[in-house]
Amino acid sequence: MQRPSVVAALRAAGCVFAEDEAELILSTARTPEEVSAMVERRAGGLPLEHVLGWAEFRGLRIAVDPGVFVPRRRTEFLVAQAAALAGREAVVVDLCCGSGALGAALAAHLDRVELHAADIDPAAVRCARRNVARANGVVYEGDLYAPLPAALRGRVDVLLANVPYVPTGEVGLLPAEARVHEARVALDGGSDGLDVLR
Ligand SMILES: C[S@@+](CC[C@H](N)C(=O)[O-])C[C@H]1O[C@@H](n2cnc3c(N)ncnc32)[C@H](O)[C@@H]1O
Repeated sequence: MQRPSVVAALRAAGCVFAEDEAELILSTARTPEEVSAMVERRAGGLPLEHVLGWAEFRGLRIAVDPGVFVPRRRTEFLVAQAAALAGREAVVVDLCCGSGALGAALAAHLDRVELHAADIDPAAVRCARRNVARANGVVYEGDLYAPLPAALRGRVDVLLANVPYVPTGEVGLLPAEARVHEARVALDGGSDGLDVLR
């Protein structure tokens, strides 16, 4: 598929930023067949980041596997706040890490980091392991703090956590990209949306 056909197919599927998305698909796909397959998946409603297999986050290319929460650009704010607090070296925990984007981005900002991340979803854990590898980060699977090693107690400088925050009754109102293609456990924050945060 040539660029104009990619743009036309994406636009027909309702992609508002068809030109930008076409650019990303054309620069990510390795073969013409892959371009067609990506356009088809995107036109079918898959989030762009799941189609590409990556998302940009604080200038990093973060791998995002199917079903794993797509790191939102607005969460870069949280990492900026953490970076301002962290000094040049830190022991960092990224709790409810999803793809591991937050920990990976904070690690990239620091001179020295000991990075630990955890998530309850095995797919997220697998994905995060790839994304924190550059920082020699370790990713654990389990509920909140439970899987973290006891040796971390009292040594954590920065705790990052972007947890599920959508009230259960409002999950059905989310756009299909989130509602259908991101794991329910990544979205549902309980009756008032604050269960996990509490
Ligand atoms: C909103 S997503 C955020 C992911 C990542 N922090 C980010 O901002 O891209 C929430 C994540 O929390 C994880 N999660 C939900 N409940 C959890 C729990 N009880 N313990 C650990 N992780 C949990 C989900 O699997 C999901 O990856």
